[in-house]
Amino acid sequence: MELHICVLAGDYAGPEVIAEGVRVTQAIAARAGHRVKLSPALLGLGAIEKTGKALPAETWAKAKAADAVLLGAVGGPRQDPKAKVRPEQGLLGLRKGLKLFANIRPVKVYDALIDASTLKPDVVRGVDLIILRELTGGAYFGKPQGRSGRKPERTAVDTTAYNEEEVRRLMRVAFDLARGRRKKVAQADKSNVMATGRLWREVAHEVAAEYPDVQYEDVLADACAMHLVRNPRQYDVIATENLFGDILSDEAAMLAGSMGMLPSASVGAGKNRHGHLKGLYEPIHGSAPDIAGKGIVNPLATILSCAMMLRWSFGLTAEADAVERAVEKALNDGLRCADVRSPGATIIGTREMGDAVIARL
Ligand code: IPM
Ligand code: MG
Repeated sequence: MELHICVLAGDYAGPEVIAEGVRVTQAIAARAGHRVKLSPALLGLGAIEKTGKALPAETWAKAKAADAVLLGAVGGPRQDPKAKVRPEQGLLGLRKGLKLFANIRPVKVYDALIDASTLKPDVVRGVDLIILRELTGGAYFGKPQGRSGRKPERTAVDTTAYNEEEVRRLMRVAFDLARGRRKKVAQADKSNVMATGRLWREVAHEVAAEYPDVQYEDVLADACAMHLVRNPRQYDVIATENLFGDILSDEAAMLAGSMGMLPSASVGAGKNRHGHLKGLYEPIHGSAPDIAGKGIVNPLATILSCAMMLRWSFGLTAEADAVERAVEKALNDGLRCADVRSPGATIIGTREMGDAVIARL
């Protein structure tokens, strides 16, 4: 099989972590006799500086043509906060353009990293959950959006809008995921305040009726934020709208000690030429401008994103498992990047961590 991957390294630390993800992917693919074809392209700040566009036409064409897209991170302090063209628009344009409505963010706490969490070991031990975030609707894309008026009458508006089909398809992904896990779905909304929240709850109940084998509960999004630090082990799959998912997934990431550990996959209904899901894979952390360029950024979130890509976009389950096991072995052997340092561990750099995973594949 040929694995055609569009690689969008992006800004600041993006290229450093992507390099390791690509090396690991190439190593495991070669072992299984598959060929990796890379299509690198510009996205984000670098793209704006070179072409004036956050998502240049050439990048869009390459992303569309590939079987999967691997992304580092976009944005950073070089960016002018008042500029009309912003790096994040590139990312949002890709998500929307490729119709990737379901964003899967697994949060798994490795035993070896329990001490790295800011929370008590008893709270985080054994946490294994997924934040399933709706990715192409809600406040990120609702119209009207914008500013009007002048000082002292400046006004801004964002719109949260959902139709029932957008909710239904996301909830079905939640229940399907749960069926392969502990069979529990929680749906987080603000139905006590928002009309969209009441629609989410109504439709979620209808979908839940199609899955009698899966346990379902509603939870208010603010209460969910609280439960995530009080007793996170109760959760299996948490499904939620775009904006709440953005917030809850950063919170949940810290259960695992560092954003540098967490991968993500964004998928929709679209398939690639191999008959698997066309997806966008990225670490959930940002471009880490403060530590970029020093060779110390943790590449594990990107490497684990590549494992998700092998599983979801190429159907290479054994290879995906092998990458995940190699990461766990490296951690169990006491190897750490600086973001998850713990007493007695050996701190290594970005490239060494890539080597360590490859050596354990
Ligand atoms: C994320 C990020 C993005 C988002 C930003 C970079 C636009 O925070 O993927 O969680 O808000 O979706
Ligand atoms: Mg975010």
